[in-house]
Amino acid sequence: MAHTKSYFDRSGNDFGGVPFRSRKAFFDTIATKITKKETKRDEFVIFAPKCHRLKTTDFRVKGVLGNIEKGKVAWQTPSNIALVKYWGKKEPQLPENTSISFTLNNCHTTTEMVFEKKKTEGDFSFEIVFEGEKNEAFKPKIQKFFERIQAYVPFLKEYHFTIFSKNSFPHSSGIASSASGMSALAMCLMSIEKLLSPEISEDYFYKKASFLARLGSGSACRSVKGSLVVWGVHKDIAGSSDLYGVDFNEEIAPVFKNYQDTILLVDKGEKQVSSTVGHNLMFEHAYAQNRFVQAGENISKIKTFLKEGAVKDFIALVESEALTLHAMMLTSHPYFILMKPNTLEIIQRIWDYRTTNDSNVCFTLDAGANVHLLYPENEKEEVQRFIEKELAAFCQNKHFIHDHVGQGAQEITAI
Ligand code: PMV
Repeated sequence: MAHTKSYFDRSGNDFGGVPFRSRKAFFDTIATKITKKETKRDEFVIFAPKCHRLKTTDFRVKGVLGNIEKGKVAWQTPSNIALVKYWGKKEPQLPENTSISFTLNNCHTTTEMVFEKKKTEGDFSFEIVFEGEKNEAFKPKIQKFFERIQAYVPFLKEYHFTIFSKNSFPHSSGIASSASGMSALAMCLMSIEKLLSPEISEDYFYKKASFLARLGSGSACRSVKGSLVVWGVHKDIAGSSDLYGVDFNEEIAPVFKNYQDTILLVDKGEKQVSSTVGHNLMFEHAYAQNRFVQAGENISKIKTFLKEGAVKDFIALVESEALTLHAMMLTSHPYFILMKPNTLEIIQRIWDYRTTNDSNVCFTLDAGANVHLLYPENEKEEVQRFIEKELAAFCQNKHFIHDHVGQGAQEITAI
């Protein structure tokens, strides 16, 4: 059989339905339609090997669903920390670049969904009990989530839902709870779908959970599985998709197994810039296109570093990714400084400690002032001593959380 690669666009469609036999044939035909800059960026997509990828339409329920009067389902889902950052998106919550994250273990949300058939369909009907108390503040976010996923979850309006939820980390800790919170809701909804449609496969179950979570909060799609998850089509990641996160099924050197993450809570306040505002800053951003290309290149590089156990290279890439994320915000319009003086103090001390002790500890940042310290398990004792002795002083109320890489969502019986 002749070896034919088909090059396809981000939605998984072949360009014009024509399978191109080679990179050259592809460019000869299509190059006039895309600019040089786009060509470079799209290479990560165009040259992704064609393999089984679900399309948006695959997530619509096809058959007839069963009939269940009431029940309850419950899941515990973790937060995640990106190594190559997702920053910049387009409708409907699709990433401008591929990202990869470590799934965490201790920072998680537990959610129980009690569902009961309504007499008449009407609008969405739900209430939220967060950490033991009825919560009105989360309602608009969940209402919006339900609206976005309605086309894929046809039973949403048929039931009244009571959602009990709690986080393992303090509510106002500056740790984003949207990844764990939205993925927990998505897992619960998939458990209900499975009750109504028992024949769905495990693979579909997890992919659709990730697909739904993504529509709630982009990075939430990386919280369903573990220990490393990739979101966004990339030529070097088999099966990768813009629609859902996939397991990083490549070789990982022992040093990267059970990697540690201590979150230093520098600022427990509300986020200064919401994710939505932040992502929107990438429109018309002077450096956005180059950043998206860089992220694609970094995915290829980190894949090699993870395989080869190249910790020093991994450190350089991860720290550069964190600083680049902040650099994008420093150079956007309007511009933001999301680090605090203590963030910089901590970074400087990590660098000094690393040089003096030949350590492999490094940092990464989310879109805020808190610092994630990443380090191999075999350096746990020394690094944790360093945190307690030197870094805790720069955290709000000396507060930090020790975490490590986890395996993703866990089904539970009740919260
Ligand atoms: O999922 P969102 O829309 O809250 O975006 C989160 C983006 C970062 O946390 C800054 C980076 C990432 O990839 O998680």
